Amino acid sequence: DKGNHRHFMQKEIFEQPVVVAQTLGSYLRPLAGEVALPIPEFDFADIRRVTIVACGTSFYAGMVAKYWFERFARVPVDIDVASEFRYREPVLEEGGLALFISQSGETADTLAALRHARAAGQKIAVVVNVPTSSMAREADLLLPTHAGPEIGVASTKAFTCQLAVLAALAANFARVKGRLTPDEEQAIVRHLAEAPAAMNAALAHDEEIEALAPLVARARDVLYLGRGPDYPMALEGALKLKEISYIHAEGYAAGEMKHGPIALIDEDVPVIVIAPSGPLFDKTVSNMQEVQARGGKVVLISDAAGIMAAGDGTIATIEMPEVHPLIAPLVYAIPVQLLAYHVAVAKGTDVDQPRNLAKSVTVE
Ligand code: F6R
Repeated sequence: DKGNHRHFMQKEIFEQPVVVAQTLGSYLRPLAGEVALPIPEFDFADIRRVTIVACGTSFYAGMVAKYWFERFARVPVDIDVASEFRYREPVLEEGGLALFISQSGETADTLAALRHARAAGQKIAVVVNVPTSSMAREADLLLPTHAGPEIGVASTKAFTCQLAVLAALAANFARVKGRLTPDEEQAIVRHLAEAPAAMNAALAHDEEIEALAPLVARARDVLYLGRGPDYPMALEGALKLKEISYIHAEGYAAGEMKHGPIALIDEDVPVIVIAPSGPLFDKTVSNMQEVQARGGKVVLISDAAGIMAAGDGTIATIEMPEVHPLIAPLVYAIPVQLLAYHVAVAKGTDVDQPRNLAKSVTVE
């Protein structure tokens, strides 16, 4: 039931504050200021390396998790898309945790990669939204997301719930590794607990984003730029736009533009810049200015301080609430989802059932 929404995708975008709160509810103990996994006895102490494998949007959640695992737990992380992972003869040594992320828990490439990692002696952790799925059954450490059934083919709420679980997992891992003081853990818990309200504040910009849709709908190509954990958000924004509006889009690490893609910039290519205030902000803004200097039409997604600091020269800004960098990916996922959604509606495509795509890809 779509309720009073026009499409399942729209309903699922708007459900995110609630389902992320629901998911965090089983991973955080806010009063104690602690993260807690559903399987407390799982032993992280001997894990020396993490290998993350997934496809599509779930892979982008894994890319964000790589930053968190490395930053908080100081554990080396390798990440690959499932269809490449198995065939490159990955080195999987003792003490390795292989982490698979999947909404459906049935994606053929990811499942095959899981079995490959198991045969190579890795411990298997899975983040899945379908608790009865094949991947859930084959895991040593099952980490469910509580997004509820996701009907729209384009993944939205499952993605932000994956991020919520992965942040809690990274913090838990860091604590076991002795890399997190109780105060630091408490701060992480506090930031995560603030995510649902910040996501609500992001959703309040829906109409503004809808008003931008005609501009993007006219484009043949669209670029998305971000840095650090917001670089995967650029990839995710581009994927969402491609799959439901059929407009060609690419996400780039902002600093990589000048090594080639900047040649694409002209007045016909909208460039969506994802740049929350924080340690990487100034760098992203100087990459944005390189684009503007070449006539690029920039839409800046940032907070009030960021929008102010970035100055003039953008064609539009979308103001997000001020948030801690840890939760920025959960919050900034929303405007890129909404933009893709409204552009698809403006183009009249079949939003919930885009051409050539299936909800669950059970062939390799
Ligand atoms: C994008 C999308 C796909 C899936 C991918 C993996 O919106 O839905 O890219 O993310 O097919 O699916 P799961 O997560 O079910 O393994």
